[in-house]
This record gives sequence, structure tokens and C-alpha cells, in this order.
Amino acid sequence: MRARHQDNRRAWNEGAASYTAGLEEAIAFIRSGRSSLHPIERANLGDLRPWCDVAIHLQCASGRDTLSLWNEGAARVVGVDISDVHIANARRLAEAVAAPATWYCCDVLDTPHELNGTADLVYTGRGALCWLHDLDGWAAVIYRLLKPGGIVHVFDGHPAAWLFDAEAETLVASGADYFSHAEWNQGWPTTYIGDLGRPVVELARKHERLWPLAAVFMALRRAGLTVELFGEYPEDFWDSFPRLRPELRGRIPMTFAMLARRPT
Ligand SMILES: C[S@@+](CC[C@H](N)C(=O)[O-])C[C@H]1O[C@@H](n2cnc3c(N)ncnc32)[C@H](O)[C@@H]1O
Repeated sequence: MRARHQDNRRAWNEGAASYTAGLEEAIAFIRSGRSSLHPIERANLGDLRPWCDVAIHLQCASGRDTLSLWNEGAARVVGVDISDVHIANARRLAEAVAAPATWYCCDVLDTPHELNGTADLVYTGRGALCWLHDLDGWAAVIYRLLKPGGIVHVFDGHPAAWLFDAEAETLVASGADYFSHAEWNQGWPTTYIGDLGRPVVELARKHERLWPLAAVFMALRRAGLTVELFGEYPEDFWDSFPRLRPELRGRIPMTFAMLARRPT
């Protein structure tokens, strides 16, 4: 499991190049007070100002969403990511906009214990869970980071979408097994990271895993959290089915959200 996470670190250090290229645009975006949160996330979380002193973003990438939480009203933000390149970008972004942000470059499972009990909000998702290979370990980290009464919000790709071929024009089976799909691959989708200018076979291997909704729900529960909101949505957060006919969009769930609370 740790070896797969380290492969993913190497792959994300390569993939983060596309975020580095967009850093100046990200600085302008955050400086203008805007937010990259998805409308579903905003609807679920509301105005952060009245209740969120500290927001911890797990798998924060280059910090754009993390600093959007600041723009949404969190007084202080913390970002955790396994990729050195992403965290270096996040530091540059936060310094450029003088944001009250702290960054940790580590496996989410190793999130420092000094952060225990500090978060009003643990925020994660939009392409996060598929990279993790220990969901109980992940949920236990969330529990220890939260203040009593604090919440975690997860908004991520719906596992059912993995059952369909993402390159097809119609809804055809991908062959993935909903209950036990894991894969390794090289290269990145063209509508996301795209071509890194090197042959795909030279790129680091990355390991992805389909987590059924029940696995996410039960991991949060086993950790001691109470799930208060659970939604499934046809909206995506990236162009994951670029060729799918418009009339077929909306027929399958593309995303889900869970909001869970650490009991007081
Ligand atoms: C698709 S991004 C999600 C972040 C954000 N929604 C975005 O699009 O920028 C996935 C992130 O997870 C990070 N990551 C993958 N495995 C991780 C792990 N085990 N611990 C911490 N971060 C991890 C990657 O480095 C990457 O920044």
C-alpha cells in the first residue's frame, strides 16, 4: 500500500507540471477573491465565515482549492499533499497572496499529529479518494484532525461512473468490477493533465482504486464520525467523459458528497 502511494507521489510530481504552468493564473484568481469550489460544495458548506477558523485540505494539490476555502471565509487554511512539486507550488501561491496558510508535504496517512483536534473543517475530494489504498487509515486521520463537533466534507467522483467506458460516445460497460477494481496505469487524460511531452512508457506508474460508496460511508462510521449528508449528482467536476453524447449526460451519477461530523 505504501509503495503504491510512493509511486503515486512520483506520478503526481510529473503531473503537477501542468499546475506549475498555471500558477500565475492561480495567483490572479485567488487574489481577486474568487473560489474554485464546486457549486455542490458551496451549497453543502455555506458561508464558512461564521464557523470555520481552521480548514484542513487533504490532497490539496497546488493549493488553489485550499486558498478558495480562505476566500470562502475560513480564517486559516492548512494543505496536505504527497507531491513535493504541488506543495512547492502551493507555498508560492500562498506567499504571493499573503494567505494565512500552512503546508505539509506527506502521505495523507502521515498527516502530522500536531494538527490533531485543530480543524473545524476537513475538506477533500475532486479526484482524491481514487489515489488512496487504505480508506480506514484515511478516515482515522480525519477523525483525529477534527475538533469535537467539526465536520469533514468529501465531494468526489462517483464510483458507478467507473463502470462505463470514459472514452465512448454512449454508455457502454468498461468491464470494471464495482466491488474490487484497482488498476495501475501511465499517462494522463487529455482533458486534465494532458501530454507531458514524454513517451507514456517513461512516465511513473500510478495506482488508482475504485472505492464503493458503502466503503466510504463505513470507513467514516468506523472511525467514529456521524454521516449527516449524503448526495449523488449527475454533475461532474471535470470533463471525465469528453465524447459522451449530451442527451446521455445526466443519466448516470458522476459525483457524490458526504458530510460527516465528529461527535462532541
Ligand atoms: C486530483 S488532485 C485533487 C486535488 C484538487 N481537487 C485538484 O484538482 O487540484 C489529487 C491529489 O492527491 C494527491 N495525493 C495522491 N495520493 C496522496 C496521498 N497518499 N497522500 C497525500 N496526497 C496524495 C496528489 O499529489 C494530488 O495533488
